[in-house]
Amino acid sequence: MKKQALLAKIHRSLITSHRLLVTGYWLLVTGSLVGCSGTATVFPTPIAVAELPTTAVSAINTPTLAANVPVLPTATLSPVATVATVGETAVFTNRSIGDPYTPELGNLGYDVQAYTIALTLDPADPRVQQAATTLDLVITDPTLTELSLDFVGFTDVAVSSGATPLSFRREDDKLLVELPQPLAAGTPFGLTVRYGGEPTRRQSPYVGFVESLGLTFANGMVYALAEPDGARFWFPANDHPRDKAFYRFELTVPEGLTAVANGTLRETKPTTLPNGRSATTFTWQHDYPMASYLAVIAVGEFERIEATSPQGVPLRHYVAAPVREDFRRVEAVTGEALDWLSGLLGPYPFETFGFVTVDAPQVALETQTLSIVSFESVGARTAVHELVHMWFGDDVSLHSWQEMWRNEGFATYFELLWQMRGESAEALDARIAEMAGAVAQNGAGYPLGNPPPAQLFGFNTYFEGATAVHALRRQLGDEAFFAGLRLYFERYGGGTASDADFQAVMEEVSGQLLDPFFAEWLQ
Ligand code: TRP
Ligand code: ZN
Repeated sequence: MKKQALLAKIHRSLITSHRLLVTGYWLLVTGSLVGCSGTATVFPTPIAVAELPTTAVSAINTPTLAANVPVLPTATLSPVATVATVGETAVFTNRSIGDPYTPELGNLGYDVQAYTIALTLDPADPRVQQAATTLDLVITDPTLTELSLDFVGFTDVAVSSGATPLSFRREDDKLLVELPQPLAAGTPFGLTVRYGGEPTRRQSPYVGFVESLGLTFANGMVYALAEPDGARFWFPANDHPRDKAFYRFELTVPEGLTAVANGTLRETKPTTLPNGRSATTFTWQHDYPMASYLAVIAVGEFERIEATSPQGVPLRHYVAAPVREDFRRVEAVTGEALDWLSGLLGPYPFETFGFVTVDAPQVALETQTLSIVSFESVGARTAVHELVHMWFGDDVSLHSWQEMWRNEGFATYFELLWQMRGESAEALDARIAEMAGAVAQNGAGYPLGNPPPAQLFGFNTYFEGATAVHALRRQLGDEAFFAGLRLYFERYGGGTASDADFQAVMEEVSGQLLDPFFAEWLQ
């Protein structure tokens, strides 16, 4: 459907649009009022962080990953330096991955294959007791003299490669590590960053509804939230979806608590903390390419709930006691929705799926294989929304953060399709017209393809995004639309795709030229 035709329907649907706001899941999903009026942003009450002295991080033994870790494709990471200007002089830098929307994020000259993140955490003490993140990477730029990593905060930082200490400095939210000598393209290189202390808490310019990204210690729990620029607040990373990698987590927590992360639990081992306290190390591993913002950990008291989807995909949830009853609604829907989505989009892309519930202000995030959801956001609609993100965002990640409509628009759209399955095409059209009405009334009116940073997760991104998806479907017809989506996941699964890549796939399956469509909706 053309945008004009859709807008014409708005007049008819304005009168019912308030129903969308009342019943819409949007508040549940983002946990905020961002975008409802275009300006009102509600910040959760700041969490008190005790002022505690930091102690030196004792050496912890973090084995590097086995040498047989498969090498990820490096195609998206060319060693092309980005250009910054200082005065009149152009300065070539590899301290950006080249996403013009977030030039501060990511780095070039290397490609991370795997992260091993070892953390010792106690929810009662809001510091990282000790941490060691090991990056197994491959050099892509043979002229590189230093490695640039995204890393913010912490104390007692030390960097080494094997037994060799490496010199480093900290500048502009980067950890700059001197290479002993330039290395040929393709050379594997491993380095370990040790650190500890209280995480830096700073609000992301892209996320108005969460006080800070990175690790939060609250109410007997620790958890990580990172979309889009928060991974660097808890581990050193090439912090951009263009450099996906495998992840291993070794989480040591006081005895009696459970620590969870992406992927599958590989080992649970009793250990002793430096202060003599009994503890447990939980080792988790996820051997599928994953963007840094999708890495998650949570520490708390959880019940593990296991199931399989009707078609056999393993499910495991970690649920805290206060929401155990509410969570039954999520259990009731997850397996069935997962199989339904697999039928529409292609096979579920990972080894397992589930949710972890945390005592946080109202949020939910599509952390890969283990979506994090706050107590208040436990519910079927949010669950389906995050599940859709396993395809849109996780399996195929954005090439630029500017393209957020493709994550949130599709998640919103398929969540709506799930709700309305069994209803007529006319009912869906009417619902989308309602949504368009709400956008006209409450949206901030920014171009969908280039949101202002503070509106990256604004009302338009979700709801105008979903109306754009529906308009594309109506223009292409169901056959081409769904075949196009399946081809998109086949082609780009495990990596990233740009709006242009998406457009090209949809043109390929439909035989239509879609320049006018995307110009109309995105610019
Ligand atoms: N992607 C989330 C969603 O499913 C919203 C979100 C973006 C978020 N950044 C976040 C949630 C940071 C929690 C923290 O809509
Ligand atoms: Zn979403």
